Amino acid sequence: TIKKHITEVENFSSTDIEAIEAFRIKYLGKKGLFNHFFSDFKNVPNEQKKEFGKTVNLLKTVATEKVNDLKEALENKKEEKGIYGDLTRPGEPLGLGTRHPISIVKNQIIDIFSRIGFNVSEGPEIEDDWHNFTALNLPEYHPARDMQDTFFIQTDPDILLRTHTSSVQVRYMENNKPPIRTISPGRVYRNEAISARSHCFFHQVEGLYIDKDVSFADLKQTLQFFTTELFGKSKIRLRPSYFPFTEPSAEVDVYWGLETETDYKMTKGTGWLEIMGCGMVDPNVLTNCGIDANEYSGFAFGMGIDRIALLLHQISDIRLLSENDVRFLEQFKSAF
Ligand code: PHE
Repeated sequence: TIKKHITEVENFSSTDIEAIEAFRIKYLGKKGLFNHFFSDFKNVPNEQKKEFGKTVNLLKTVATEKVNDLKEALENKKEEKGIYGDLTRPGEPLGLGTRHPISIVKNQIIDIFSRIGFNVSEGPEIEDDWHNFTALNLPEYHPARDMQDTFFIQTDPDILLRTHTSSVQVRYMENNKPPIRTISPGRVYRNEAISARSHCFFHQVEGLYIDKDVSFADLKQTLQFFTTELFGKSKIRLRPSYFPFTEPSAEVDVYWGLETETDYKMTKGTGWLEIMGCGMVDPNVLTNCGIDANEYSGFAFGMGIDRIALLLHQISDIRLLSENDVRFLEQFKSAF
C-alpha cells in the first residue's frame, strides 16, 4: 500500500495553493500518512524492517520534493504576473516627441532677430478695441477695419480676438520707453474661409524698432539681413502698399530665384513671393502710445509664420498644421 501512495504522490500536480497544502498535510502533517506508517514500524517483523523503513522514507522524500516543486512553480508564476513583472526584461522605449513646424520656424525667426538686439514680447489673444485698432490709427468707422475680418467676443464690440500682434506692440510702447527693439510672436484670428491656403487662425511675428533717427534704409537693411538668414542667399523687393499704422508702407517680396530653386522645389514658377508687410510707424501711433513723435521715429513689420513654414518645409496644405496628425508631425525633427 505504501508503494501505491508513492505512485500517487508522483502523479500529483496542482497550481492551487490550498490543494498543495492539503496534499502536504495528508502526507507530511502530524497525523499524516508518513507518521501513520512510521508508527507502524515497531509492529513490522524484524526481517522486513529494512525494506519497510526504506519504503516509508522514500514516501517522505518524494512527498517533500513534490510539495517544494509545486510551491516553487507557483512562486515563479506569481512573479511573472506581479506588479513589477520580470525586472530583467528590456524596457519599452519612450517615443521622443518632435517640435511642431510652427514652433520650429518661430524659434528660427526669434533666433535671427535676437542676434541684432530684438527681444520677445507677448500679449493677450483676447484684446480690446483700443489695442487692436484704435491706438493703431484705426478709429471707429475707419474703412480699413474691414481689411481684417474680426471675431468679436459675444456681443461686446469692444472685446475681440486679436487680428494681428500689432496689439502687443501697442502694449509694449505704452509700458516701455525708447529705444525699443522687440518682436511679438503669437496666434491671431480672422474670420476667413478655411482652405488649403488660409485659416481662421494663424501665427504672426511682428517687429517694432523705435529710436532717434530711424530711417527707411534701416528697415530695408534689417529685412535683408533677416531674409538672408532665414532663406539663404535671397533678394527682396519692397512694393508700395497701405497700412493705417505705417506711413509709408510696403509689402515685402522675396525672390524664389535660381540660387534657392534647388532647395525649394515646391515653387513651380520661381519668382517673387510676398512674405510680409512693413513701414515707418505713423506718428499718430507713437503719440497714441505715449511716445514723443518729434523726438522718435521707427519702423514695424509683420509676417505670417504659417505661410513661411509652408514654403520652408514644402507643405501643401495649411490645414495640416492644425490637425495634429502624428504621421505629419513626426516628420519634423529639429534641433530647435
Ligand atoms: N499688422 C499687419 C497685418 O497683420 C502687418 C504689419 C505690421 C504691416 C507692421 C505693417 C507694419 O497684416
